[in-house]
Amino acid sequence: MIEEELRQKLIHLAVQARERAYAPYSHYAVGAIVLSDSGKIYDGVNIENAAYPSGICAERVAIFKAVSEGERRFKAIVVATENGGSPCGACRQVMAEFGLDTEVLIVNTEGQTVIETTVAQLLPGAFTPESLQ
Ligand code: THU
Repeated sequence: MIEEELRQKLIHLAVQARERAYAPYSHYAVGAIVLSDSGKIYDGVNIENAAYPSGICAERVAIFKAVSEGERRFKAIVVATENGGSPCGACRQVMAEFGLDTEVLIVNTEGQTVIETTVAQLLPGAFTPESLQ
């Protein structure tokens, strides 16, 4: 469990990031924050596209930004949506690649925690890198 002060900071950052979502088609803005094992924080927003399937979710943007900076393990992922909507299947799979123990917090735009879970709970029976060994 991450400590309360840090948790509140991550929630605040996720809600702030959400304001930068590029969601002109769905109008469903999402902000995501990942806290790496090294202690660094990366943010992401959903980025939609006129060619709809070319868009990407906030969670994957945040994770891919972090991974492209060399991160491989995450302590926590915080996702902010207007109604506490939970991560899609593709994002759950990407989360699982980098660890099943990562804490996942889903918050609303008031910063209230709607769901507090882990990647393992979000994706039971996950196909992981170990599955290929
Ligand atoms: N979306 C996310 O960014 N994360 C999720 O976990 C669920 C959905 C985005 C994708 C799309 O831009 C919009 O929300 C509506 O599906």
